[in-house]
Amino acid sequence: MTAPAADAVTAIEEGLAALGTRYRDAFAGAADEQALRDAQAAVLGKKKGELTRVMALMRDVPKEARPEVGAKVNTFKQGVQEAFQSRLQEMAREARNADLNASPFDLSLPGRLELGRGHLHPVHQTRDDLLTIFRDLGFEVVAGPEVETEANNFTKLAFPPDHPATDMQDTFWVDVLESGDDPRSVRDGKVLLRTHTSNTQIRVMSQRTPPMAVVSAGAVYRRDDDLTHSPMFHQIEGFLVDENVSLAHLKGVLTSFAEALYGPGTPVRLRPSYFPFVEPGAEVDIGCVFCSESDGSRSSCKVCKTTGWVEVLGCGMIHPEVLTHCGIDSEKYTGYAFGFGVERIAMLRYGIPSIKLLFENDPRFIEQF
Ligand code: PHE
Repeated sequence: MTAPAADAVTAIEEGLAALGTRYRDAFAGAADEQALRDAQAAVLGKKKGELTRVMALMRDVPKEARPEVGAKVNTFKQGVQEAFQSRLQEMAREARNADLNASPFDLSLPGRLELGRGHLHPVHQTRDDLLTIFRDLGFEVVAGPEVETEANNFTKLAFPPDHPATDMQDTFWVDVLESGDDPRSVRDGKVLLRTHTSNTQIRVMSQRTPPMAVVSAGAVYRRDDDLTHSPMFHQIEGFLVDENVSLAHLKGVLTSFAEALYGPGTPVRLRPSYFPFVEPGAEVDIGCVFCSESDGSRSSCKVCKTTGWVEVLGCGMIHPEVLTHCGIDSEKYTGYAFGFGVERIAMLRYGIPSIKLLFENDPRFIEQF
């Protein structure tokens, strides 16, 4: 009678051992959560589970051996549950790691930001509009360099030696290295960042023979920094050389310019002033377009400071000495020149209170133009 009982116990023990190897392999090999749950059901499932089949042998186990065998079965069940839970957790960890290591961007999604179309900076818009005015008046547009020799920027323009404009306070001097120079022994090459566009006058007049009518626009540099001055700003220079050119021609061109900019009938006045490279020299005021005496608002106009006039440029008849420096016969030819700041015109045009706004490049400002 003990033989079948002993057999049953052995059979259960062997069954559990075989089942143990199988479920461990099945759990480890489960590719996803569903496969894992299926494998667990194959072992512990109430109806079809393999453990149920092993448990069927319990009938043949003698009563006194049952608690011990039952305890073994429970331990086995617990082992299966623990292995199931830990593999489940492992799978969740793997999924999370895969998620974390995956590329954070889905490059196939359409962008959320609409890319706006850019446009020219207000200073460049103004520059182009001004150049168009002079082109229409018959001037040719020529470019000049921003890094210039002292001769082209000052000396040939008849700036006296030690003129305050050449002072360290005003001019950015450039150290010039020649190839092979020891950087520690920088030579004073008398090269600078041009302080005005008048260098273009010198360059063009030295290369051409009259007649010529030229405008040039570009960046200029000065050691200046306040509400209306920036260390870098833009100028436009214009000049004309021919026989019998007079101040009347200059005023005529400037009047056409003012009218093209601010409309027909815009008043223009020349005030005597000094620039070393012109004689006579003048500053040009344009009637303030922001106020008028008729509506009585002039008394509060901030732009013209209630004078009714806004200073916009410097001009004059090219000094004979400057013509001579450029190889032009000053007995035969005369010429006029004028120069002005593009930012100043842009500020007047759009009512911009500070030059800084033009260079901060805050899109909220730039987008308004
Ligand atoms: N170059 C002068 C300046 O920067 C302006 C100017 C140009 C004056 C031409 C007279 C003639 O202030």
